[in-house]
Parts: sequence; structure tokens; C-alpha cells
Amino acid sequence: MKLTNATFTAALLAYAMLTGCQSQKPAPVTTEETATAVQANRATTETDKKIEDLLSQMTLEEKVGQMAQITLDVVGKGDNRFSSYEPLKLDDKELRKALVDYKIGSILNTANNRARTPEKWYEIISQIQNVAMKDTRLKIPVIYGVDMIHGATYTAGATMFPQQIGQAATRNRELVRRGAEITAYETRASSIPWNFSPVLDFAPDPQFSRQFETFGEDPYLTSELGVQMINGYEGDNNDIGHPEHVASCMKHFLGYQVPSSGKDRTPTYIPETALREYHLPAFKAAIDAGSHTIMINSGIINGVPVHANYDILTKLLRDELGFEGLVVTDWGDIEYLHTRDKVAPTMKDAIMMAINAGIDMSMIAYNYEPFCNGLVELVKEGKVKQERIDDAVRRILRVKYALNLFEKPTTNPKDYPKFASKEFEEAAYQTAAESITLLKNEKNVLPLKKGMKVLVTGPNANSMRTLNGAWTYSWQGEKVEEFAGKYNTILEAVQKEIGAGNVTYVSGVSYKMDGFYYEEFADKMNNAVAAAKNVDAIILCLGENTSTETPGNINDIYISDLQTELAKKLAQTGKPVILVLNEGRPRVISRFERDMDGIVQIYQPGNYGGDALADVLFGDVNPSGKLPYNYPRYPNALVPFIHKPSAEQRKAEGVYNYEADYNPQYEFGHGLSYTTFKYANLNLTKESYSMEEPIEVTVQVTNTGKREGKEAVHLYTTDLYASDITPDVKRLRRFEKINLKPGESKTLSFTLTADDLSYINRKGEKMTEAGEFEIRIGDQVKKFMLNGSKTIGKN
Ligand code: BGC
Repeated sequence: MKLTNATFTAALLAYAMLTGCQSQKPAPVTTEETATAVQANRATTETDKKIEDLLSQMTLEEKVGQMAQITLDVVGKGDNRFSSYEPLKLDDKELRKALVDYKIGSILNTANNRARTPEKWYEIISQIQNVAMKDTRLKIPVIYGVDMIHGATYTAGATMFPQQIGQAATRNRELVRRGAEITAYETRASSIPWNFSPVLDFAPDPQFSRQFETFGEDPYLTSELGVQMINGYEGDNNDIGHPEHVASCMKHFLGYQVPSSGKDRTPTYIPETALREYHLPAFKAAIDAGSHTIMINSGIINGVPVHANYDILTKLLRDELGFEGLVVTDWGDIEYLHTRDKVAPTMKDAIMMAINAGIDMSMIAYNYEPFCNGLVELVKEGKVKQERIDDAVRRILRVKYALNLFEKPTTNPKDYPKFASKEFEEAAYQTAAESITLLKNEKNVLPLKKGMKVLVTGPNANSMRTLNGAWTYSWQGEKVEEFAGKYNTILEAVQKEIGAGNVTYVSGVSYKMDGFYYEEFADKMNNAVAAAKNVDAIILCLGENTSTETPGNINDIYISDLQTELAKKLAQTGKPVILVLNEGRPRVISRFERDMDGIVQIYQPGNYGGDALADVLFGDVNPSGKLPYNYPRYPNALVPFIHKPSAEQRKAEGVYNYEADYNPQYEFGHGLSYTTFKYANLNLTKESYSMEEPIEVTVQVTNTGKREGKEAVHLYTTDLYASDITPDVKRLRRFEKINLKPGESKTLSFTLTADDLSYINRKGEKMTEAGEFEIRIGDQVKKFMLNGSKTIGKN
């Protein structure tokens, strides 16, 4: 597809119409809306004209500079490009070299891997924009990008939400959208207009170090919540010029989180059917929702580094999905084509491969000269076409215009009075509270009584770092304690909840840091066990320390030996043990799970997670989170939630190896409540449908317990037979979270179409076949027929 201004205008208008709840039918267009569309059209045409004018004035060097992105330390005062002196100051000479001599168009990240106050960000970014907009020939503003992934990560004092995995557990679209709106506000309060979020990776591998950054292992859940997050970041009509919104960045396109080894940036093999069936839908939904930018997977799929893959970056992303926005590399990834992946014999070859494959902007990070000089030479040598450069620069300038950076290159913290306000804090608390997932509650051990004496123990009991996770005030989360002193750890929150006099604390096991890595050591384990004898219940806080990317690689998914030992010894005291899991991925607990009376998964719930947990443990909040992944039982049984019937061999005759069966510790969607819900009257309007007919489903849910509670209702379908490839056992097609008072009933309605029942066939086409299907909501199951000839749809 040739990209023209007209196609971009059409896409912008489509974006404008696509906002709001994607699942709702579009309302009739009013005169007012038509006027808005006309205005948007005119504005876009004017912007297109400005872009073309600017492009026509640009030299090749200026264009290439726009395609380069460097990290802040490169222009920070310091001994080298990898770190800066503190307090942070910019090096005027280095800044001018980068922006004026090399015409660089984008900067990312913080310096020294450390959060900054909004005022400091304003000072730094104002200085950068001053040079870009006064001292360069064409006065093009810099676009500044940062990973503000669960709140404004790199802003001191910002409101921290649960990591995406916890947000997925809430199953609450409004909370996800609100969290993104607040993050956008606080990011702009830091003068930053571009956020490298959300992560839309399909994440069925519990070993992978970044599962916590995702919405988990279901493509539909990820699509739905991804769209909410983008709407929250970009605002209504994707108006990112609004000073309270930011450009979102979908990442990491495509197939990042499933390497065979379970380790970051190692080889991955994904057949085309799986790529389209499981990995693509969330990106497609996000593109349709108008996300302005996309970041590329740093890994290798089927032997080909994604940064050099024309089929993925151009044919699929641009031609098929129609993405019109900016395509940025991940950190240093063009260089890696040469140094790591060995597909490019020289750095220059690497640049050629990546730009020709469809990269618009290189997140170079440090050494920008080889990229800028190399790309200029490649164009002069005819190895990269001038049109490819113009296309890339046009896409970059469009985002800069859309963000209104030419008019308003910085945003001043004084215009953001709601930064870190009570209102924002409450939203973060609410999201944390709804994310908490009650996995086990033997004999209703929970909620605990407030008059009880408890022992709080475990390496995660008194840590703000583990509550927040990586990407909090620092990359690996290693600087959290420095910035989050005023918030409550689990221990502090429990003390507040029931009075310090009722709480004994002994760590039992602790984490010891060694750079980005950590070790565990027994820390008064015997004292912890002795203390348990004098209390009514034990709150045992286990999990892992925080990490991401390569530092988060693990060789053993079992929770550590020391934590296992502590759990077993405490269980032997005979006192009720409540296991609190605080972890970025589900570490296997089957060596002691049966000895635990209650189990609560809190993921990485952010700065208010301790308070939310205390409220759940002592009954002020009724838990309502649902697992966004399968919690594995054994390291050699990491069968994902979406799997084929043959993975459930217990049901097949003549198979004796039951240990190898599909038997997760807890399944996707599991999550208990302090009340009980009954599902009844699952109804379909008909027993058989044509391909064109809507399939209307209703179900009644009743709160049959004594407490008010929220329930996330999941609708699954099963294609009983599929002729082209083996069907999945079941697939999530809809979910809705409701609140019910004791005794209250609600009837929920869902509408499915034949498209919802499709699968990707061996040719990579989306296909719906006639035949028998099953619908499952709670314990209710109904079958129906789909009639007619098969349909082949667009992906
Ligand atoms: C990560 C990305 C991140 C980028 C910029 C990379 O190492 O993979 O997710 O956006 O760094 O910080």
C-alpha cells in the first residue's frame, strides 16, 4: 500500500469515530459530531501541508537526525555517555553536538536510572527544547519518550498503580482506563509527551521475566484492556495534543514473550497460525483504537531478528493492518543485528536492513554517530531509498504535530495541581484492591479478626520495592525504598490495621542485593518459627525480588528453597498460615501449597498495595481479582490456559501418566470471594444460528452469601470440531465485572457473532466453520449449532 496524505486523513477520521467503548455500536452521527469531523479533517489537511512544507526544506542529514533517538545520559554532564554527575545538569556542548550538529530528533529515558521531580523534568526538557527550537535551522521540537508503565515510573512523587498483570486481574475496564488517564496526566506534569506503554505481548510463559508487564495469557483480555489503556493515555478522539494526554506506544511487536528457553531475547519459533491467532489480536485492536506509535520486539522469530523482518514490519504492520504511526526500535536493536544476531556483517548493513524493513526511528541509546553518518551514506549510495526516509520522517513529524509540540514543546508542572492528589491515590488504591486474588481459603480462615495477634514474616513483608516491581523510580526497581518511604509496606499496613501491639515481625528470609541481582539468606528463621507459637495466625509474605528483562531470567521456577523451608516450618507450628504471594510471575509453590490455609496473590500492586492487602486480610474489602494466567503446579508442566484437547489426557482412555496431565495449581480465571455466587439460567435465543445471525446469550448471577461482592463473569466458547486445525479446549470471548448485594441477582446479556467463533487456519486465514459449539459461563454449559457455509474473514 502506498501511504498518502489522504489515507492518513481517512485513518484519523476513523480514529475519531472509533473512540469510546469499542464493544458498543456507534451512535448515530449528530450535526455537532459532523462539525467536529470536518474540523478534524481541515486540521489534518493543514497539518499535512505543514509536514510536506517542512519535509521539502529538510536536508538529508536533518531527516536522518529525526530518525535518531538517544538516551539522556548522552547529553548529561559527566565523564562518559553512560552516566551523569549528580545533581543532574545537561552538558551544553554535548547537547548542541547532538541536536544542532547531528540534528537528533528524540531523547528517551532518565539519567543515572533515577526518577526526577516534575520540576526537574521541566527544567531539563525546557533546556532541550530551547536548543532544538531556537538553535537548529528548522526549529523542530524534540519528542521525549519514557517508560511510564504503571504510573509515571520515572517521576518522583507520582501515583503508582499495580503492574499491568494486576490490572488484568481486576477485570475492570474503567479502572484500567482511569489508571492510564492519571498516568498520562502525571507524565505530562513531568513535561513528557510520549509513553512506551502498554505492553500488549501475549504472555503464556510463566518463566519469562516480563510477564508482570503484560495483561497475561489471553488475547481477548489483552485486547480489551489494551484498548482501555490506550484510550486513557491518548484521550477521546486520540487527541494527544491535549496537555493532559500522551502518545501511547504499543509494544513489543510481535511475539516477544515466548522464547523456547523462557529467557529474555533468546530465539523463538512461532508458526504463522499461532502468531495470528494469539499474538496479533491485541495489536490489531490497539491499532484500530488509534495508538500513535509502536515498538518492535527485540528478539528473533523463526531465525529472523524482528528488526530486520520486512514481512512483519512492512507487509503485516503497514500494508495489512494499515498502521500509519511511528515505528521505533527497542533499545540498541539495530546495532544488535550486527553485534548479537550476526545477520549484518557491519553496522552499516544493520542500519540498511532495519530501515528497509520498516523502522522509522532508531532507539540508538548511546553512539549516534555511526547511525546518522551511516544512514546518510546509505541513501547517497542508493541502498536506502529517499522515499523510505521521507516516509519515516513524515510519520515522526505527524506524531510531533499531533502532540502539539511545535506550539507547546513543554508542559509546566504548575499547571497540574492534581499531581499525586488524594483523588489519584484513591484510584490507585481501588485498582490494587480489585486486583488482589484470593486463591485458597480453607475453612474460611480469611478474613482474619481484627483482635487477633499475628506474625508477619517473609522476605516480601517489609519491602516497598517488591510491592511495586521493576520500572518504579528505576529500571529494576532497585531505588524504590529511596522514593517510597511514605507508603506502607505489608507489615506497616497490617500494624495500622490492627495496632502495632498485635503484630510481631521477623523476616525469616531476606534478599541481599548484588548490583541488579539478588541472593536470599536465612534471616532469623528460627526466631520466626518460635514467634509463630505466640500468635493466632501467620501472614507469610513470599515471592521474589523485583527484576525485568535479562536480569530477571531464572533457571528454576520453583519458589526458592529457603522460602519453601520457612513455609514448611511455619506450617508445622499448627497455626493458620496465610500465604501472601508478591511476585512478578507465578513461582511454583506445590512443595508446600497444601500446608497453607489461605493463599492471596497480590502480584505487584504498587504503593497502595500494602493498605489494600491489609483491608482484604481483615475483611474491610471483599476480594474480587481473577487470575490472568495459569498458576503452574510443576516446572515441567507449564501448559498454558489456551491449549489443545490432547493436553488434557486424563479424559482420554488408555493414558496412565496422570502426572503429565493438564493440572495447573490454579487456572486462569480462578479467584474466590468472601461471599458466594450462583450462576443459573444460561439461555440462548435459539438452538441453531446462521453465520449472519447474532448469538444472544443471557445468564443470571446471584450473590448467595452474606456480603456484598464483585464478580467477574467470563464467557467461554468451545468449537467442538474444527476441520483445519485442532480446536482449543476453550476460549474467552467476553467478560464483565458486576457488583451484587447479598441476595441480589443480575441477568447479564452478551452478543456473539460468527466472527467470535473463528480461528486462523493453516493458510493464515480467519475462518468460521459450521458445526456444534459450546458456551460456558460459570458452571453453566449450553450447546448450539452454527449453520451455513464457512466464512473466510479478514484477520
Ligand atoms: C525495553 C523496552 C523499553 C525500552 C526503553 C528496553 O530495554 O525492552 O520495553 O521501552 O528499553 O526503556
